[in-house]
Amino acid sequence: MKKNLIGILVVALIIVGFAGFASLNAGASKSNNVDVPGHMKKDLAMENAQQLFLDGRQIFRFDTFGDEAFWGDTLKLHTAIAGKANGGIGPGVSPGTALAVGLKVDVDALPQPLIENLKKGKVDLNDPATTLALLKLNAVVGINGSFDKTGKLSSVGITCALCHSTVDDSFAPGIGHRLDGWANRDLNVGAVVNLSPDLSSVATLLNTNEPTVRTVLNSWGPGKFDAELFLDGKAFNPQQVTDGVVTGTNVPGATLIPNAYGLAGFNQHTWTGSWGSIPYWNAFVAVLEMHGKGRFFDPRLNNAAKFPIAAANGFGDIRINPDDDLVTSKLPALQFYQLALPSPEPQAGIDFDAGAASRGDELFSGKAMCNNCHSEPLWTEPGWNLHTPSEIGIDSFQADRAPDGVYKTMNLGGIFVRERGVFMKPENKGRFYHDGRFKTLLDVVNHYDKAFGLGLTNPEKNDLVEYLKSLSSP
Ligand code: HEC
Ligand code: HEC
Repeated sequence: MKKNLIGILVVALIIVGFAGFASLNAGASKSNNVDVPGHMKKDLAMENAQQLFLDGRQIFRFDTFGDEAFWGDTLKLHTAIAGKANGGIGPGVSPGTALAVGLKVDVDALPQPLIENLKKGKVDLNDPATTLALLKLNAVVGINGSFDKTGKLSSVGITCALCHSTVDDSFAPGIGHRLDGWANRDLNVGAVVNLSPDLSSVATLLNTNEPTVRTVLNSWGPGKFDAELFLDGKAFNPQQVTDGVVTGTNVPGATLIPNAYGLAGFNQHTWTGSWGSIPYWNAFVAVLEMHGKGRFFDPRLNNAAKFPIAAANGFGDIRINPDDDLVTSKLPALQFYQLALPSPEPQAGIDFDAGAASRGDELFSGKAMCNNCHSEPLWTEPGWNLHTPSEIGIDSFQADRAPDGVYKTMNLGGIFVRERGVFMKPENKGRFYHDGRFKTLLDVVNHYDKAFGLGLTNPEKNDLVEYLKSLSSP
């Protein structure tokens, strides 16, 4: 009885509430139609998601965050690209040279007549003027050119896509449709920066001279960049140690450029993880590496013992008038877009052997114990995915260049791309772990076999490799 009464009361209250709400609304709009307030619109979240995705893609591909002030004004990279014949200095950068240092061309940005001429071999790929034409079309992935009224290249800036996009070679090697999130394993960042006629500012920052800076840049090679150099000034790993054996001395400190796909669902990104996750790193990169105009705060960089360059230059607290900030407002969309990027899907029979992979699956979560860290199907730990160097049997050089001295369990989705060398120059394929110390996946498996004393047989190792090649992000 009592329960029924309460029920009736609740229903009555709801009806009164609705009536009140409707009449309030009617009062406001002076009509009989009830206006649904914006925040109650059913598909607002979907609309927001679509907008964030589209904005994020635009930012990822084309936004320089105002970094022309560095790459153009300070490094004068545009003058080297244009060359003397086009109002710059030196020989200039032809499309041939650009492709040789791993820059990629977006075929979808090229007008049909140019495509036809390219097919007929009528485009001079040895003329820097052709590079300028490509820049005008916004066709060089990750490089934005600014042109003055006379058509002269007046500045350049770089975008996230420079390092984290490649193309599918559909037209020719290095020319094709964009593949966002794919690390550009061919891109020789050091060689690109070395084109600059004036690296004095970098030398001053690093308390050294220009020839030394150029030597360091030359040491990186394709597919690598040293994001910590401008914090700690440490250009070389004095001793690379693997499973207790010295495997190299004075190894360049640059790390492989990771993919920016398959990153959703887990905490902590970058090789060393303890910096933070995607939105932390995006702000860090946009402001401190690309030299975009934005606010950045991380008091950990004030630790002068660990980050002498960063501490001396106040990188831990970069302030800017909010009206001049070209980074902060873009962080939400930029993060959203990266979370939306899936890893590529390998195909059985082409990218891996299905029978061997299914045996490898058993080993991965069984005898080989890989799943303890690379948890299926994120391929890293849900939760806290960081490990000490000794846990994975390698030296601490790179780990020590980040706040907590650890390595992140790298996610493995789409790793077949690197093993097989998909859309990259054959000489740049393979290379695993942050510094690329292992040439092949079998080398990685051999390392774990030794480090963990797994006692894997050769056929088991092979099965495990086939399984690794079959992985993609969930
Ligand atoms: C000059 C090349 C370069 C540019 C430009 C660049 N990155 Fe990176 N990115 C790297 C390298 C190298 C690392 C690895 C750094 C490390 O682990 O210390 C990295 C790491 C990352 C990671 C972590 C990936 C993972 O697997 O954990 C993300 C996400 C990322 N970058 C996004 C971006 C975004 C977004 C931009 C643009 C705002 C950008 N990057 C610009 C080279 C670059
Ligand atoms: C204790 C945790 C842990 C275990 C167990 C583990 N890994 Fe890893 N794995 C890591 C970490 C951390 C890295 C990143 C190393 C680096 O940054 O250089 C990594 C990197 C890798 C990479 C290279 C990824 C890249 O992008 O270069 C592969 C491949 C890999 N592991 C496969 C395996 C396999 C196969 C097993 C089992 C035999 C295994 N791992 C067991 C933590 C682990």
